[in-house]
Amino acid sequence: MRISVVGSGYVGLVAAACFAELGHQVISIDNDIQKIELLRRGEVPIHEEFLPQLLEKHSGRTLTFSTDLAGAVRASAAIFIAVGTPSTYQGDADLSYVESVAREIAGAIDSYKLVVEKSTVPVFTSDWIRKTLSLDRVPAELFDVASNPEFLREGSAVSDFFYPDRIVLGADSERAACMLQEIYAPLRDGSFYQSNVLVPPPAEARIPPPFIVTGTKSAELIKHASNAFLALKISFINAVANICEAVGADIREVRDGIGSDSRIGHRFLNPGIGYGGSCFPKDLKGFQAVAREVGCDFRLLQEVMSINEEQRQRFLRKVRNALWTLKGKRVAVLGLAFKGGTDDIRESPAIALVDALLSEGCEVQAYDPAAMARAEEALPRSPRLAFVQSPYEAARDADALLILTDWEEFTTLDLGRISDALKRPIVIDGRNLYEPEEMARHGFMYVSVGRPEVRPQQRAANNVAAGS
Ligand code: UDX
Ligand code: UDX
Repeated sequence: MRISVVGSGYVGLVAAACFAELGHQVISIDNDIQKIELLRRGEVPIHEEFLPQLLEKHSGRTLTFSTDLAGAVRASAAIFIAVGTPSTYQGDADLSYVESVAREIAGAIDSYKLVVEKSTVPVFTSDWIRKTLSLDRVPAELFDVASNPEFLREGSAVSDFFYPDRIVLGADSERAACMLQEIYAPLRDGSFYQSNVLVPPPAEARIPPPFIVTGTKSAELIKHASNAFLALKISFINAVANICEAVGADIREVRDGIGSDSRIGHRFLNPGIGYGGSCFPKDLKGFQAVAREVGCDFRLLQEVMSINEEQRQRFLRKVRNALWTLKGKRVAVLGLAFKGGTDDIRESPAIALVDALLSEGCEVQAYDPAAMARAEEALPRSPRLAFVQSPYEAARDADALLILTDWEEFTTLDLGRISDALKRPIVIDGRNLYEPEEMARHGFMYVSVGRPEVRPQQRAANNVAAGS
């Protein structure tokens, strides 16, 4: 099918490349000419596994890039809207980009078109798009508006597209539902998985994935509610971790005890410095605003957000407790992205903490495998902020090392080298990447989340014991 995807950001670009991999003719549109030119040159503007291979395979063939939305609409049967839906000052979703795209689509419709919401939007947005097209005099028989929310996670977006837990198709007409099913047919009938060689199935992949066909309102709500529930799980385990710290219990054991209940599950119960990213913070505020608009005071969501904000403050207090005064102290920071596997720093807890440490007069030596360029743009320029090329360089002569992002490579550091590089053997881990016992054996004072703090054991003795 001929498909257009409007918005070549994290969601839109991945969707466009994956639709091409499913065998569709795809036009990826963005109003950012530099981004389009960059994509036409074969460059990849975001850090996502498998995306470079997909773009190399399809660009210039079944996948083209354009700024000409009207032309793309005329050339396509289905148009997916994946533009940004940032938060307004009040917290509700800013839908002005979605509206302006809908109006441009209206101006270009010359035959039947299926318009599909891909961005995370509040319930009723499909009604507003329908109304906009009608008010712009597009005959009702020439369009349908549907919702196909995206559940991909940054860092594993391509894999999540092909191996989702479910595919939600929100349509209010038989014709729209059929077209959406046809677009995803290679996943539904399993043919994609027979021919696919590029993207291996993750453990527990459901092949073919279940399809959930609903009305558009339900689909819009499924997305908001799913993100809100995932964020709630994270704030819940963080709140329990804080109680563990207060009573001397161990969140690993508690998490295991909770997660072993099949009604709860272990996933998304990793305590840390709180959630970030372009979705959870914005979607929680957006969902709360929707609830408010329809007369439901969804107080629970407010609590989820407050616990999340408090988690950053708690981590800062741990740094103060370890270093006493912060002014003039040098800290090594491992991780700037909002989570491992991505270069995205939007609403990153790490960025917020680096900002706070700088304003407290600290010197910061920061390292991140992929997000330093974006962090350098976002953080204030300061002689006390340095971006370095390795975790060991970050640790050099630092009073403490802070782990802020759960990058895989941070789990296998040479702890001896880190300890030698640091001025004081203090590690404050906001992601629980290490076992307290191991850190003590290596002579560290180790502070983490929801686990007892450990003090350095005699490193020499332990080295002998560890046979090093
Ligand atoms: C977006 C939404 O922000 C998010 O709510 C939703 O869940 C998924 O899609 P993301 O892809 O991460 O998330 O956004 P972003 O990376 O900001 O990409 C949006 C793209 O749309 C940008 O490239 C922007 O240039 C483009 N855009 C925006 C248009 O092409 N036209 C517009 O009118 C506005
Ligand atoms: C999220 C949703 O998972 C995805 O389905 C949706 O489409 C977009 O929003 P993403 O923001 O990419 O995806 O990241 P995710 O892996 O969900 O992590 C979000 C934040 O929660 C990160 O800051 C992460 O570090 C944090 N997190 C996640 C925890 O603190 N603990 C956990 O157990 C899981």
